[in-house]
This record gives sequence, C-alpha cells and structure tokens, in this order.
Amino acid sequence: MTLAAEIDHETSPEKLLAPVLSAFWDEEKSWTLETYLRHDGYEGLRKALTMAPDDLIAYVKDSGLRGRGGAGFPTGMKWQFIPQGDGKPHYLVVNADESEPGTCKDIPLLFANPHSLIEGIVIACYAIRSSHAFVYLRGEVVPVLRRLHEAVREAYAAGYLGKDILGSGLDLELTVHAGAGAYICGEETALLDSLEGRRGQPRLRPPFPAVAGLYACPTVVNNVESIASVPAILQRGKDWFKSMGSEKSPGFTLYSLSGHVTNPGQYEAPLGITLRQLLDMSGGMRAGHRLKFWTPGGSSTPMFTDEHLDVPLDYEGVGAAGSMLGTKALQCFDETTCVVRAVTRWTEFYAHESCGKCTPCREGTYWLVQLLRDIEAGKGVMADLDKLNDIADNINGKSFCALGDGAASPIFSSLKYFREEYEQHITGKGCPFDPAKSTLWADRPAGNAQVNA
Ligand SMILES: Cc1cc2nc3c(=O)[nH]c(=O)nc-3n(C[C@H](O)[C@H](O)[C@H](O)COP(=O)(O)O)c2cc1C
Ligand code: SF4
Repeated sequence: MTLAAEIDHETSPEKLLAPVLSAFWDEEKSWTLETYLRHDGYEGLRKALTMAPDDLIAYVKDSGLRGRGGAGFPTGMKWQFIPQGDGKPHYLVVNADESEPGTCKDIPLLFANPHSLIEGIVIACYAIRSSHAFVYLRGEVVPVLRRLHEAVREAYAAGYLGKDILGSGLDLELTVHAGAGAYICGEETALLDSLEGRRGQPRLRPPFPAVAGLYACPTVVNNVESIASVPAILQRGKDWFKSMGSEKSPGFTLYSLSGHVTNPGQYEAPLGITLRQLLDMSGGMRAGHRLKFWTPGGSSTPMFTDEHLDVPLDYEGVGAAGSMLGTKALQCFDETTCVVRAVTRWTEFYAHESCGKCTPCREGTYWLVQLLRDIEAGKGVMADLDKLNDIADNINGKSFCALGDGAASPIFSSLKYFREEYEQHITGKGCPFDPAKSTLWADRPAGNAQVNA
C-alpha cells in the first residue's frame, strides 16, 4: 500500500489504520502457508478447537462481528440459526463472487492472504458442525483461483483440512468452485442455485438458507472478509476486537479507495473512520482536483458528496446520513466527472446483470437506461427526470431481490444531489463536460452521438 510522503500527525496511518488481514501483504510470498504460520497463522483455530461449538458461536456473536458482504448481519447470530441435532448435513458456503462496481476487497484479500479465509472456514465449520465447505469464487479471476487452489492443497497437506484436523476429530472437505461471471450469483440464494448446477436466480424466501440452503440442507452463506476476520478474533480475543470501532459496529475492516484519488488501494482501519481521514492520510484526490461525489459501499449504495466527508464509515453512521456502508468500496469522483454519465454506466451494468426473474427490475432497468442515454445525449426532456424517479420508485422495494434496490439507489441519490446537472444536459442539449478532461470518458470515443446513434 502506498501512502503519501507528507503525513500529518493527526492523520498518520499508524494512528488511524489497523492492519490485520492486510498486515503482511507486502511480504514476499505473503500467500504461502509458511508466511501465514510466521504470523501466528492457525493459532485462532487451535484456540477454537478447545471450545465447545456452541460456546464458539456465542464467542463470535459476543465479538459483535457483522457480515462484510454488504448487509452487516451479525455473523455469530447467522451461525446460531443453523439447527442442531437435525441429522442433516450442514454446509458453509463462502461468497467470493465479488462483482459489484467498485467493490474490490475480497479478491485482493484472497490473492495476498488466502490462508486467513481457510482458517476461518475451519473454525466456522467446527462451530456449525459442518463437514463440507464451499468457496464460490468469481470465475474471471483465474490467478486468484489458482492461488486459492494452491493454498487449499497446502492446508490439506499440513493437516488443516481433511480428516481429523489437528487431532480434534473434525473432518472437513473444502471445495473451490469458480462461477461463470454473473453479478446476480453473488446474491446468496442465486449463488446456491448456481452451485447446485442450475441457472443462478434468486430463490423465494422463506425457507431461508439456514433451514433449506445448499441441497435443501441448513447452510451458512458468509462473505470472504467476514470469515477471514474470525481467526484474529479468536487469537487476539473479542475484547481486542471490540476495542476498535463503535459499540454496534466493532472491529477492523477493509476500505477500498478507488477512482480519482492519488493512492488507490486497500486501507484496513477500525470501523467509523471517515473518508476525510482516509484521503488525508493517503494523499487526497488527484492533484489539482476536488471531490465531487462518492459511494460509501459500491455503486448500489446511494452516493454522497463532499458534504459527507466526515460521516463515520460504520453501519449506523452511513445509514443515518442516508446511504449504506455496503462493501466499503469508496469510489471517488472529482469535478471533471459527469454524474449523468457515471449513473448511466452503472445503470447499464444493472440492466445487463438483471436476471429477468421479476418484472420491476427486468423492465425497469431497461427503461432507465433508455431515458439516461437520451438525457446524456441531449435528447431528453424535463419530464424525463420525474419519469426516472418514478421508474426507480417502482423498482425499489418491489423487486424480487436486492439487485433491483441497488439499481434504484444511484438514480434517487444523483437526482437528489445533482438534479441541476441533469437539467443542464436537457436545456443545453448535451453533456456540459469536456471529455478530454475526464477519465470516465476513456472507454468511449468523444461525442455522445456515437454512443447513442
Ligand atoms: C445482486 C447481489 C449481489 C451480491 N454480491 C455479493 C458478493 O459478491 N459477495 C458477498 O459476500 N455478498 C454479496 N451479496 C450479499 C449476499 O446476498 C449475502 O448477503 C452475503 O454473502 C452474506 O454474507 P455476510 O453475512 O458475511 O455479509 C450480494 C447481494 C445481491 C443482492
Ligand atoms: S430484482 Fe432483478 S436480479 Fe433480482 S430477481 Fe428480480 S430480475 Fe432478477
């Protein structure tokens, strides 16, 4: 991780960052078992195996760890939902499908430190009494797939996976599955259908995965970072974990800084840090430019502006300010960026990734794209703005899964903060931004007419 040369004491990384999962990413061969063991690897597992499974679940629950996949659901509570003594197999499925625009933490984590996930998987499976776990990995990232396969091989060879793990009597098989490139397969029930060999589309709930998940058996679905955080909690203690962050959002987490910033990257810090602090310590926006808008947790979370630089980046703080912490993907856009263009690109993504199962999302995202493209090209009329809002309103909360809500978020929030900019496109009959100055234009030749012809 590169940091700014000039660091103010109040915002010094030593003071603000809390590298745990990322603590030794800079080391040579950080991903190997040997490196992991040098950094107390698998010590959390040793401690976990001395506890009764129910006590272990209670410990993780008491730590306050919340799911890092977006919704922030308490991890220990999710494990507790798995019925015990039901005679059925139990499964742990790790969601490594990471595909949301801007979200980029699980893939680097798996690339640099895959054993933290494997150790977390063994601990979680011991707790929920599972003897088979799966990792559903985004299929496009072949180098990560290879690295994960190699780490799993190392773990089997060293006795951390397989039969009678560390002499505890625990047996565990771990299967790594590569997806085929659909964003919807990150939605946990679509993921389960995909893992079973079906077309990945969300399932009706109830029943919830904890009751009838993979192969209709009790299943925990957790994000990579959630599970990878568990070993450190066991090894260093829940009080240490709770000493960071706030009462309702304790602990450390990975913030992914991207976009028009001087030093993009992963910044691991206690929950509740602000974007201002992250920018101050990392070199700020790119030279000569200022922040215009940003997402706190990927493109599906309502955007913020420079008014929100001091919002604490935890679940409650971001929620109170009108957005969601989501995946902590802090995509920063400077004043050269056309917000209409950015929202159009995101909406095209949602329309493309809509699985088509329900009408509000399938039809609504299509129509949003048509309207946005017209507005961007200077062919819109004022009534289109209310229509955009109306269509988004008919998707939000009325769709079968949260992809629909995510598609509505950028529409609502951009109209809230940048309605004037939409109006400028309409009255000026085109985009007022200079394509030569904006990196958002790099993907297409200058001139909207070509795009929309
Ligand atoms: C369209 C869509 C895509 C999602 N993609 C992911 C993903 O790539 N990774 C992930 O962990 N959760 C993703 N989720 C959230 C999962 O459904 C689920 O809440 C999460 O895996 C639970 O893990 P956690 O409790 O550890 O956060 C997605 C949700 C939706 C609606
Ligand atoms: S909201 Fe979209 S992605 Fe989700 S089920 Fe409906 S069509 Fe599919």
